[in-house]
Amino acid sequence: MIYRTQVGIVGAGPAGLVLGHLLHLEGIDSVVLEARDREYVEQRVRAGVLEQNTVNLLDEMGVGERMKREGLVHEGLELRFGGRGHRIDLAGLTGGRSITVYGQQEVVKDLIAARLEAGRELLFEVEDVELEGVDTEAPAVAFTHGGERRRLSCDVVAGCDGFHGVCRDAVPEGALTHHEREYPFGWLGVLAEAEPSSDELIYTHHDRGFALHSMRSPSITRLYLQCPPGEDVGEWPDDRIWEELNTRMELAEGFSLHEGPIIEKGVTPMRSFVAEPMQHGRLFLAGDAVHIVPPTGAKGLNLAVADVRVLSRALARWYDSGDESGLESYSETCLRRVWRTQYFSWWMTSMLHRLPDDRDGFQARLQRAQLDYVCSSESAARTLAENYVGFDSVEAPG
Ligand code: APR
Ligand code: PHB
Repeated sequence: MIYRTQVGIVGAGPAGLVLGHLLHLEGIDSVVLEARDREYVEQRVRAGVLEQNTVNLLDEMGVGERMKREGLVHEGLELRFGGRGHRIDLAGLTGGRSITVYGQQEVVKDLIAARLEAGRELLFEVEDVELEGVDTEAPAVAFTHGGERRRLSCDVVAGCDGFHGVCRDAVPEGALTHHEREYPFGWLGVLAEAEPSSDELIYTHHDRGFALHSMRSPSITRLYLQCPPGEDVGEWPDDRIWEELNTRMELAEGFSLHEGPIIEKGVTPMRSFVAEPMQHGRLFLAGDAVHIVPPTGAKGLNLAVADVRVLSRALARWYDSGDESGLESYSETCLRRVWRTQYFSWWMTSMLHRLPDDRDGFQARLQRAQLDYVCSSESAARTLAENYVGFDSVEAPG
């Protein structure tokens, strides 16, 4: 069965859902196709730090009410190393900008509820998605839903199906340039029913490896520790996790984490990835489908949202006046922010993780010198702060 929309969106993660709602607010029709079921998409534990821009946009879109009520606003973070903690005053160094800690799956829940309330189409559990004619003015998405093969014809396809999706691979061989770095470590992440042990995030550099204290609510803590890539989570019984976290996060004056039942744990690989350009014909790629940042800078979700903000404005201008300039500059505009964000995420990752091949400790000494500098120079601290809370726009140097 063939049916039609203006924008076919593949993927109901933050990128696809934010795009769908922004287009709805512009009166532009779209259909969102998602491979997994609603429960899986709404339960999938991911990161949880929202930049000021992301918070402002979700609010302007009218989907920020619960985020405002339940999100935790942080005006600072702690860098911890050598048994001492150092607070970075994010708000003070950026003219009052802050971050909000609010789980990605909560953002996804709010967006799905808003989409269904708006009466816009969202199909879960679609299979065998195939893109057709993205090089033409009449692209389409073929898929199977409820055992029926269907074809969605549209003006534009938005590939928001994440790193392991099909949209990026629908671009002809050689048309995209891939840039990739695999890091020689991963993150073991846990969710624990324990009161957070600090009001703000704690990024820790330690000889035994990186550790991060984050949270989801006044009763749920989110913690990460550096581990070998591809580590078997079975090697990490709960008590070993708490022991290792407490060792890495030790303070000269004493410190121990509030412990509690670990309700979720998993290992994530660390990579930096960018595919260029972010457009091919009538296919526009956004979010993890076209770039991956290591989570140390907490940028993945925010970058996905920034992409679709540019795309929705460009589409609105095109539908309003036929002006294609925004669509033509979509890739170039987004890649400026993507590479700025890649740099910051690589910088945070390189500064805070133990580098396995650092046999004589030269790298570790450099990292300590860098951390000392960031924590003793206002301009260096401001560099971290302004990148961490996020930029309104990323202009090319004058
Ligand atoms: N057909 C339909 N949907 C698909 C397909 C497919 N072939 N392949 C993947 N998907 C869906 C996934 O199930 C997922 O729900 O696309 C969605 C992609 O969502 P994300 O991976 O969350 O990617 P994105 O929306 O770009 O958000 C990026 O997500 O992974 C985090 O850290 C990342 O925070 C970043 C954010
Ligand atoms: C999280 O809360 O999941 C989180 C916070 C900061 C990061 C990464 C993840 O850098």
